[in-house]
Amino acid sequence: MVKRILATVLAVLMTGLFLGGNAVAETDKGAVKYPEGYRDWTHVKSMVIQKGHPLYESFGGIHHIYANDKALKAMKAGKPFPDGSVLIFDLLEAKSENNALVEGPRKVLGVMQKNAKKFKETGGWGFEGFKGDTQERAVSDPKGACFNCHEGQKGSDYVFSKYRK
Ligand code: HEC
Repeated sequence: MVKRILATVLAVLMTGLFLGGNAVAETDKGAVKYPEGYRDWTHVKSMVIQKGHPLYESFGGIHHIYANDKALKAMKAGKPFPDGSVLIFDLLEAKSENNALVEGPRKVLGVMQKNAKKFKETGGWGFEGFKGDTQERAVSDPKGACFNCHEGQKGSDYVFSKYRK
């Protein structure tokens, strides 16, 4: 009887290890996770980038910045961001309608995810973009396409946005 219980416990443990090992491999494969539920996070600020602005080609449209709880705390305190902080750059098209600028379809969802060890080449931040409303990855060179520009913000842990009251 005791033997059988031990065997069952062992089997459960082994299964756990096996599944656990798999889960690690899964997350490593695509370093930066799709930020499930980010629309319920805190809105930090918004901006419209129009024709004529130097960033129009890549980031033209209306974008909203969101922060998860960890990131928000650090941002408000003006402290470096702890591992697990996530910041979002939610970029939508901006359409002119009846003398108003309104949101169009989503262009790209930009994500910064802090993990000092994993992303040490890019200031401790993992950079990724997800195309439109999909979870299809858009960034193949996070250093060249993202970090080189964010690097200028070293004094604020590579983050541009400040929380607007
Ligand atoms: C040429 C400069 C430049 C490049 C390249 C760039 N960004 Fe940014 N990024 C900015 C600026 C400026 C802001 C602040 C926008 C604002 O204040 O609303 C920003 C903001 C962000 C934010 C919100 C946090 C913060 O720093 O304010 C995220 C997330 C982000 N970018 C992700 C990315 C990703 C992912 C890439 C690569 C695909 C990228 N960025 C490439 C200039 C850049």
